[in-house]
Amino acid sequence: MDELLRSPAIAQGLRKVEARIHRLSGSSVLPGINAGIGRIVGAGGKRLRPALTLATSLALGKQPDRRVITAAACVELIHTGSLVHDDLMDRAVERRGTRTLNADLGDGKALVIGDFMLAKAGLAAITSVSKPVAEVLAAVVVELAEGQYLETTDLFDERRTVDSAIRSITGKTAALFRASCLVGAVCAYASPEERARMAAYGEKFGLIFQVLDDLLDLTASAEQLGKPAGNDLRQGVYSLPLLLAGAEVTHLLGRDMTDAAVEEVLRRLRASDMVDATIDHCTGLAADALAALPVIHDGELAGLLYGLPSAYIEQVAGLARLTAAG
Ligand code: FPP
Ligand code: MG
Repeated sequence: MDELLRSPAIAQGLRKVEARIHRLSGSSVLPGINAGIGRIVGAGGKRLRPALTLATSLALGKQPDRRVITAAACVELIHTGSLVHDDLMDRAVERRGTRTLNADLGDGKALVIGDFMLAKAGLAAITSVSKPVAEVLAAVVVELAEGQYLETTDLFDERRTVDSAIRSITGKTAALFRASCLVGAVCAYASPEERARMAAYGEKFGLIFQVLDDLLDLTASAEQLGKPAGNDLRQGVYSLPLLLAGAEVTHLLGRDMTDAAVEEVLRRLRASDMVDATIDHCTGLAADALAALPVIHDGELAGLLYGLPSAYIEQVAGLARLTAAG
């Protein structure tokens, strides 16, 4: 992932995206809204989704112009806006090492600031990019809401199926990765086949990203995560890695788990084959992602997109195995 983010062509584009994000973040007539968005947007984030928009555009032969940069900024605004909603639903107090908007300003203000970000992204896309890009972004907000809704319907259900978990993360996470690549392809005037291929690549990588995020939630420490470890267990989100570990811990799950009970489940999961089973699953997704890629004539961009899934899997696998062993 670092290779993509640090590549000169992408890093240069991301600086422009950053400036556009900050301009959009300060565009309310209400200073309180601007301050709230500015704080959460300024708290960090890797800008991975905008990087994929830029990489797709470049891979398909288009230098990122004003429209690509704005589309990439809109993608990030939707991502961060959805996180504001997610933190509200999770009653989270910390994200990216900083206090959440719901913790700082209260639920009501956080809710409307999240809404503002989603609406602003849609407005910027339709006024400053194009109708097809605005359509992709409007559709992805629908999918985000549906994916998140599915997660809430499965909470604390120890009979949750792998298929059900995949359906939820396809909507809540993979859809935005898919859209990040698709808008880059649309801005590059790519052929329908190239658009479909890049969209499929984005979706598969998005699934990998969420599954590995879920794995880290069960294996990494609070310091490594920038948020409490084992959050998903406490909140009743029985994620794919946990489901892949099978019956090992099912009987220990439930509502209102004590810290000791969470620790015990984490200990058992780390001693199980969860990490290997999850990495195997992601390796299969990575093969699908690579098979989906269109022909890319630019050697550097081809290398970056080909290398991204396996590099990220290796990075997280190393971390997960280390903490699981320790
Ligand atoms: C973080 O994942 C959350 C998401 C990827 C998406 C959340 C989507 C919503 C709340 C729906 C948004 C609503 C609209 C109207 C678009 P996570 O909770 O697995 O990860 P975390 O540990 O970082 O919280
Ligand atoms: Mg969450």
